[in-house]
Amino acid sequence: MTNTGLAGRVAVVTGAAGGIGRAIAAALYAEGASVAVADLNGDAADAYAAELTAAGGPGRALGVRVDISSSADVSAAVGLVERELGPVEVLVNNAGITRDGLLVRMSDDNWGAVLDTNLTGAFHTIRRATPKMMRGRHGRIVNVSSVSGQSGQAGQANYSAAKAGLVGLTRAVARELAPRAITCNVVAPGPIVTAMTEGLPDDWRTWAEETVPLGRLGTPEEVGAVVTFLCSDAAGYVTGAIVPVDGGLGMGH
Ligand code: NAI
Repeated sequence: MTNTGLAGRVAVVTGAAGGIGRAIAAALYAEGASVAVADLNGDAADAYAAELTAAGGPGRALGVRVDISSSADVSAAVGLVERELGPVEVLVNNAGITRDGLLVRMSDDNWGAVLDTNLTGAFHTIRRATPKMMRGRHGRIVNVSSVSGQSGQAGQANYSAAKAGLVGLTRAVARELAPRAITCNVVAPGPIVTAMTEGLPDDWRTWAEETVPLGRLGTPEEVGAVVTFLCSDAAGYVTGAIVPVDGGLGMGH
């Protein structure tokens, strides 16, 4: 990729020990950014940061344990990144969970957990990281939503609501921070091969392959490439956008 301008920048990727997050972190690191591999699973975050470091790069990779649903945790984690790597200039809110179930049987806990992680978590990180972006008059924020956030998904009222909420959050942030040259966009993946989808039954995979116009599931690397573009200098005139990476599944929404 040309003209990314990512070399020397400091990036935080949440959920970076998981399938899509790993690919995003690797792509940013390959462009020369220093990357905080931030995840609830601190051991996996440390291990992946060590893996990136071993691969070599001009930037640094730092494992950071964080529960993004806790604002105190986020504050401490971003503080650590600022001390170790410098002010955060690129923030990718990728961490997410599912607690699927039919609406009439959905527990308060399963509703709350999904909203707290997938939506409130992004609010926490954006609120904590943006003051320094504003001072630096540069920033890139990408929020990883889902095709379910626009089309809705039976059995995923909590997840669809949280992912749709990310769109509203993104657009409010995009307008509020545009005067400081900070962009905020959504990437909306369709079915991607990761641990989140590997647990689903075979008939789901068959359904996905038959329904997705491109006829296959996507890869984490295909999401990482689009996120990297939105974090690059080349994407300086893109803000408040929803960019699908879904093989055409969400066309028309
Ligand atoms: P994954 O389950 O492989 O990885 C998610 C990561 O987030 C895990 O490493 C987990 O430890 C971390 N995490 C969970 N709760 C956290 C918390 N409170 N604080 C910090 N980290 C936390 O999932 P995958 O598939 O890589 O998904 C990444 C993002 O992409 C999620 O937001 C997901 O909703 C979204 N997405 C995934 C799709 C797919 O087909 N895999 C489709 C559309 C969207």
